[in-house]
Amino acid sequence: MQNIYLNIYKPNSFNLKKAKKYIENCNIIGLPTETVYGLAGNAYSDKSVKKIYSLKKRPRVNPLIIHFKNLKDLKSDVILNSTFVKLYKAFCPGPITFILKKNPKSKISQIACGGKKTIAIRIPKHKIARKLLKILKVPLAAPSANISSKISPTSAMDVCDEFGKKIKFVLDGGRCKIGLESTIVDLTSRPTILRHGVITPKKIYKVLKKKILVNQKPKSITAPGQLNLHYSPGIPVYINKLEPRKGGAFITFGKKFKNDKNYFNLSKTGNLNEAASNLYKTMRYIKKLKFKSISVCKIPNVEFGRAINDRLKKASYS
Ligand code: TXA
Ligand code: MG
Repeated sequence: MQNIYLNIYKPNSFNLKKAKKYIENCNIIGLPTETVYGLAGNAYSDKSVKKIYSLKKRPRVNPLIIHFKNLKDLKSDVILNSTFVKLYKAFCPGPITFILKKNPKSKISQIACGGKKTIAIRIPKHKIARKLLKILKVPLAAPSANISSKISPTSAMDVCDEFGKKIKFVLDGGRCKIGLESTIVDLTSRPTILRHGVITPKKIYKVLKKKILVNQKPKSITAPGQLNLHYSPGIPVYINKLEPRKGGAFITFGKKFKNDKNYFNLSKTGNLNEAASNLYKTMRYIKKLKFKSISVCKIPNVEFGRAINDRLKKASYS
């Protein structure tokens, strides 16, 4: 049996050219970004985009994020506005996704947009993602590289664990630094955060000088990250707990927790960035160790902690 990890490739110039060929031939690859790994394909090709939906088992109504190299490249696909330009200057390239109105001339696959008149765009910062975008002539549709409703992968091996041999080519960019998905900001009307991330409302406020709305529970579902069960490790998750359940693991945060064989500390120093970067990795590890459940201690709901709590809350939905 072929080892699935043989599908992982070092990001040297030879393999980047190989990745380019894959994309040009409407194939799908695993791509590192600074947040999580993406499942990337040619955003202009219906064929590529259909493959992404099918691999992820993702409902077609849920649109994909389109990744661009820079502002110049996205002008033909979306309609820019002044709020976007301010946020772009402050945070791009980086872990933030913008929802903008679609340019009627856009060549982005309508399937990737889930039939909407808006497009989610992101300019990733990861060196390897940027190198690939630089040699490509098309933007990349790239949702997180996990089966729909599961947790995102933060290493090339996680991508292979999710898809096995169905993904023939994963570029190895090491462990993702941030470890949680990008902040999503809807800029089609009053600026609104649809998904929390490392770019917090406070950081956005500093740039826009006005309070940004937060709407993670709209009347109609516009993003799967807004569905109830999401970010699931595949075993029950219980939040705001003081101890683990019988046969279960306990995810902790801060120095007051002892070390034990079923205790897993996200950050002994109580650092929320470190905790976020360890969250999915730790959940995957616990599942592999065959624990029956995951209990999680209370995690401060401030700064990046809001994104952590958002993911945990959805993971604990039953
Ligand atoms: O960090 C990230 O954003 C990663 C990396 C790979 O870039 N990508 C990611 O993609 O998390 P995905 O597909 O797992 O999550 C994208 C979210 C989904 O909840 C989707 O519904 C939402 O963005 N989205 C995409 N297009 C949208 C649109 N036009 N309006 C509202 N939400 C949209
Ligand atoms: Mg996702």
